[in-house]
Amino acid sequence: MRPERAPASLPVRLDNESLKQVFLNLMLNALEAVGEGGRLAVAVAERRDRVEVSFQDDGPGIPAETLRQLGNPFITTKAQGSGLGLFLSRRLVRSAGGTLDIESAVGRGTTCIVRLPRGGA
Ligand SMILES: Nc1ncnc2c1ncn2[C@@H]1O[C@H](COP(=O)(O)OP(=O)(O)OP(=O)(O)O)[C@@H](O)[C@H]1O
Ligand SMILES: [Mg+2]
Repeated sequence: MRPERAPASLPVRLDNESLKQVFLNLMLNALEAVGEGGRLAVAVAERRDRVEVSFQDDGPGIPAETLRQLGNPFITTKAQGSGLGLFLSRRLVRSAGGTLDIESAVGRGTTCIVRLPRGGA
């Protein structure tokens, strides 16, 4: 997704607290993955019927086997991780009629894309 200038306001059908939780989870995951000197790019794109927010990092990426399991709770590779961050984030996004997709390649990085139907202004 090409970075675009975010509009001042883009209503979606998810409350602020839930949005904050989802975005925070994705950003913390990315920051924990990239480590010092890493890069996280956040982009917002406005589509005809939805809003897309992507979080792209240049961290180590996620092995295919782990990626396949990420739909389930308690999948974690962190000593102190609960493995609930992505599971709960996806549940919140889905409750608003949206999707949370994760694209990743080992050695290349990870992109998480939140797609939410647009709400009324
Ligand atoms: N951006 C990312 N780069 C590399 N691996 C990731 C990334 N995001 C998630 N992962 C992998 O997916 C696993 C699950 O993430 P999730 O957020 O659900 O749980 P967690 O981060 O391990 O624990 P918690 O969110 O409770 O602190 C992580 O342990 C990590 O292995
Ligand atoms: Mg997490």
